[in-house]
Amino acid sequence: MPRIQWDESMATGVDTVDAQHRQLIAWLNDLMEAISRGRARSEIQGLLAKLGAYSTFHFGHEEECMVRYKCPAAEANMLAHKDFVATLADLTDAFERDGATAHLVVRVEVEMLRWLTTHIRRTDTLLLPCVKAAQS
Ligand SMILES: [Fe+2]
Repeated sequence: MPRIQWDESMATGVDTVDAQHRQLIAWLNDLMEAISRGRARSEIQGLLAKLGAYSTFHFGHEEECMVRYKCPAAEANMLAHKDFVATLADLTDAFERDGATAHLVVRVEVEMLRWLTTHIRRTDTLLLPCVKAAQS
């Protein structure tokens, strides 16, 4: 299965933020690999825990960067992060209620893919011109 690779279409201009996005991509690749090997259900609890911790430190850091570089998307970015945190809470509730079902595994995969292709590519990258403007 082809692995998803970080590329310039996801660049934010801030190395630490990009490194954290690469981490998210690595976890998504791990999940897709686990699905193809039929062992995703045993890994989903650990992944949900990692995503919970990630959303705290990564979103906080990225939001600070958007404020620091006066990015016009700062507010929209914060709202999108709140949505993702709520989605993650739903997924965690579903895990606590029903356990590691195949349906939950697919929901987590879909949400991570959606986050990558919509949020990171469309919102987080609005930081790039602001960082470039600050450096020029
Ligand atoms: Fe973001």
